[in-house]
Amino acid sequence: MSEDFIKLGWKAPSNIALVKYWGKKENQIPANASLSITLDYATTSTFLSFKVKKVKDNRISLTYFFHQVREEKFENKIAALLNRLIPEMPFLVDYELVFHSENNFPHSTGIASSASSMAALALCLVHMEILIKQTHQTKETFFQRASYIARLGSGSASRSIYGGLVTWGAVNGEVGTSDLFASPFNLDETSRLNSVRDIILIVSSQEKSMSSSIGHSQMEQHPYRNGRINQANANISELLSSVRTSDYANIAKIAEIEALSLHALLMTSGADGFLLKPNTLQIIDEIKRFRNEHQLDLFFTIDAGPNVHLIYYEDQREQVLSFVERTLSIYCEDGKWIDDKIGEGPVCLTPQNLDLE
Ligand code: PMV
Repeated sequence: MSEDFIKLGWKAPSNIALVKYWGKKENQIPANASLSITLDYATTSTFLSFKVKKVKDNRISLTYFFHQVREEKFENKIAALLNRLIPEMPFLVDYELVFHSENNFPHSTGIASSASSMAALALCLVHMEILIKQTHQTKETFFQRASYIARLGSGSASRSIYGGLVTWGAVNGEVGTSDLFASPFNLDETSRLNSVRDIILIVSSQEKSMSSSIGHSQMEQHPYRNGRINQANANISELLSSVRTSDYANIAKIAEIEALSLHALLMTSGADGFLLKPNTLQIIDEIKRFRNEHQLDLFFTIDAGPNVHLIYYEDQREQVLSFVERTLSIYCEDGKWIDDKIGEGPVCLTPQNLDLE
């Protein structure tokens, strides 16, 4: 690539929601607040190279490579997003943009990559904005803007801008929470959640029969819509208070209710929303049996797909790993599962000085 391109890059992680974002209003405003754990291992790395166009044409010009291959499908999707972002970032039309992106989690593992990829993309765009405008930003305003931009790409991506436990959506009584961007939740250093881990049990790596945008839109007319909004908002407040009081049994209970509520909403939406597989239910059954037998604080959660996230704490890792190897891997596609844990959030991959105060 020629010398006059400026290059920058960000690595952003995926996240798993304990209180689910499901349903939205205009402009990617969530119907309810959500809460997630940012992961460590599952990440997207994106590099953006840009240079001023020789001839101005007021159009987005971009090339998008995914794992070094030019991908038209992604290119069109990103072009559509950048076109939507022009009112926010009018400078985008003045530059030639080249993206190189890759996920470190293997293809076809059934892990949704929109959170990590949209977060990495948003960080690149906001970083570019700072370099062009030569403005000074604090860490707080930089990441808040990146979360705001990530939200416009994919709601759950707004949470991947921060490490640890993250909320998105205004939560009653929680200072700093907003519908426009995510906010990191300050965990007490004694909390076991600082060492929370996630084993992702791959029941199926097939593409889902329903995209999350169709799923969100189904919520607009859903007969349970209002009940769901009230339930999620109550659940997030109760979950945060259980985090503060270290009530691990209640955290587990709320997270499981959330996962099952998401699927109940999917199944009753009138669209093809039955995403669970027989092995998903087998795994849930085994997790409950194992938890009762050993009195552990582990629990399951599920995204809009058939794969199960087994959430547990570092101090119970040995027991959990042998349970997964002995019992749960039998229900996984080709015995596949991914070992992940709570992570610290995105990392800048290029040396450009951001000059963040
Ligand atoms: O960010 P989206 O539009 O892909 O929606 C994701 C919604 C869930 O993953 C099902 C739940 C969540 O809060 O992450």
